[in-house]
Amino acid sequence: MLDIQKIRADFPILSQTVNGKPLVYFDNGATSQKPQIVIDAIEKYYQEINANIHRGVHTLSQLATDAYEVSRGKVQHHINAKFAHEVLFTSGTTFGINLVTNGFASILKPGDEVIVSSLEHHSNIVPWQMLCERTGATLKVIPMNEDGELIMEAFEALLSEKTKVVTVNHISNALGIINPIKHIIEKAHAVGAAVLIDGAQAVPHLKPDVQDLDCDFYAFSGHKMCGPTGTGILYGKEEWLNKLPPYQGGGEMIKEVTFEKTTYADLPHKFEAGTPNIAGGIVLGTAIDYLNNIGFDNIQKQEEALLAHATKRLLEIEGLRIYGTGKNKASVVSFNIDGIHPYDIGSIIDKLGIAVRTGHHCAQPIMNFFCIPGTIRASFSFYNTIEEIDAMVEAVKKAQTMLS
Ligand code: ALA
Repeated sequence: MLDIQKIRADFPILSQTVNGKPLVYFDNGATSQKPQIVIDAIEKYYQEINANIHRGVHTLSQLATDAYEVSRGKVQHHINAKFAHEVLFTSGTTFGINLVTNGFASILKPGDEVIVSSLEHHSNIVPWQMLCERTGATLKVIPMNEDGELIMEAFEALLSEKTKVVTVNHISNALGIINPIKHIIEKAHAVGAAVLIDGAQAVPHLKPDVQDLDCDFYAFSGHKMCGPTGTGILYGKEEWLNKLPPYQGGGEMIKEVTFEKTTYADLPHKFEAGTPNIAGGIVLGTAIDYLNNIGFDNIQKQEEALLAHATKRLLEIEGLRIYGTGKNKASVVSFNIDGIHPYDIGSIIDKLGIAVRTGHHCAQPIMNFFCIPGTIRASFSFYNTIEEIDAMVEAVKKAQTMLS
């Protein structure tokens, strides 16, 4: 088992008090906290090797370039991509998804179909809607059941030779449901569709193997996996990245520029116009090393224990309903209490030091499905404890008493 107290000591923010109470940070689905080693690595970059990359022959530029490319290699090995050039640095999951939807604008035709799921975050709905508006393609939606699970028979019924892209999240941000993505990818490929997986909520909890999954694209953010904000990765299969046009024009993404014609650089640079978040990209590698040193098996065991305890304790509260009751779940509990608005509970427990997210979680279609304005979402990380869950349950009970 993990020594949680030792791990917590790596995260300076966790020893803070908020509103005079010890901080209980259960908003890990929104962003994770950062260990000191990540904070130090940012400072070290700016103190020792700050320079622009891929541009200079001078020593600092080469040091920064090497560190950036070493980090790309770490991500490649972490997700088991075949080639380092299939790993694109982005500013986050949203950027990665928009890069792909922009590319498909030159591929889709009227009558083509794009399938999304009813469990998506807005960032994996809106770009596809915009793409359909641009191209005349049609958006289809995989429905879900009352447990928050996607209905696979309905998905299979939507597939046809018209399906050009299927996109689904690996783990739902609002409910924590883990989707059967391997099965979805296999079925989509059987009709010749490309598949993008939104891995934003998965990467803090598990290590995706993109070759085993056989997905065409896998997008995720660095800040939810102990890395800095403004960092992210888009994995794309080489053949797809070669097929898609560049997303942004600018420096660094070209082979040759004349006023008559520009030719584009090879992968990955074709998709990396402009000066990137160099420190962020390098430090994302530090965050990945940190998580791998803890070990994803250990992370999963701790998070499963937290999820089981939170589910059991919360259900002791009268009138409490959990949304997302499917079997396969990550360490996220979304709930409401009869007759009380989620914001009211969230505000009161904040005064008691408990940080949760309340609202629609950028997933309004899920809230519409359950006919609710939003939920209270507690999302746990490996550095959270059973005692913190007990503190949240007591705080929620107190809020319920005050608001009833
Ligand atoms: N997508 C993030 C969340 O679910 C911000 O909170």
